[in-house]
Amino acid sequence: MEFRRKDLLGVADLEPEEIQLILDTAASFKEISTRPIKKVPTLRGKTVVTMFYEPSTRTRMSFEIAAKRLSADTLNLTVSASSAVKGETLADTAHNLEAMAPDVLVIRHYASGAPHYLARRLKCGVVNAGDGLHEHPTQALLDLLTVWLEKRKNDKEPVRETLTGLKVAIVGDIAHSRVARSDIQAFTKMGSQVTVAGPATMLPPYLETLGAKVTTSLVEAVRDADVIMMLRLQLERMGQMFMSTIREYSQFFGLAPRHLNLAKDDVIIMHPGPLNRGVEISPEVADGPHSLILEQVANGVAVRMAVLYFLIGGEKG
Ligand code: MLT
Repeated sequence: MEFRRKDLLGVADLEPEEIQLILDTAASFKEISTRPIKKVPTLRGKTVVTMFYEPSTRTRMSFEIAAKRLSADTLNLTVSASSAVKGETLADTAHNLEAMAPDVLVIRHYASGAPHYLARRLKCGVVNAGDGLHEHPTQALLDLLTVWLEKRKNDKEPVRETLTGLKVAIVGDIAHSRVARSDIQAFTKMGSQVTVAGPATMLPPYLETLGAKVTTSLVEAVRDADVIMMLRLQLERMGQMFMSTIREYSQFFGLAPRHLNLAKDDVIIMHPGPLNRGVEISPEVADGPHSLILEQVANGVAVRMAVLYFLIGGEKG
């Protein structure tokens, strides 16, 4: 298998074999972050530009750390201090950045499709770090990596073998979540059974077409689950009220210790962050023994190292 893409725009386009290749490479890159000197020369002389039009802590830092661990130079465009606030279009900003010859542009944008628009116009690679309500492919890849490394029986077991048949519950504000859309596709491609749960107002109509089972009951979703992925209530994206009160939401859709008794004994709890503690997840669960939330963050660096490595023309395949 070879990885021949210029861009990483979504999970929708990825073949299971490509996912396996990225995750194998990410798993081997994990070790670099445990060394006293956390750096290899793989991407020396290459440049990674990050351009974030929406707030981010984890994703932007994770891409920067990933690039630095591979010795690439990084440059972060702070959009609030850039010419975008003077009315420059996205395409003009990107063409100007490209004139400075970066190898990869990592973009997060509030408009769905913005990375695809740039990918068609730019010669450098483009990575989608979250576009509107659409996709967040590196989050889905790091989620797969986290489940695979936790659940595999030995280090030779392929991703699909580990993930086939696992019951994955994705719970919360599905309508506003690009993570949900990428995760549903990623887990179903690798053979898992995905159930999504949330209030009816936060469940868009197309979910079954992505391969997910849909319910409005948290209890139903978490029963016998191997993996429970809680999503943040994205208040900043809610133009109108999608629920009566946050308290009521939390009562029906907040994950509490009592729910874990319904799931498998070795259930793992995940959340892409940032957490609304006490809203979608109780602190006891977020910090409890089943939680892999910080492991997801650590795996995020490894996955982004693998993605940059393949796009910038590390060895292909
Ligand atoms: C995202 O950017 O979509 C985050 O990783 C998840 C969130 O904001 O809740």
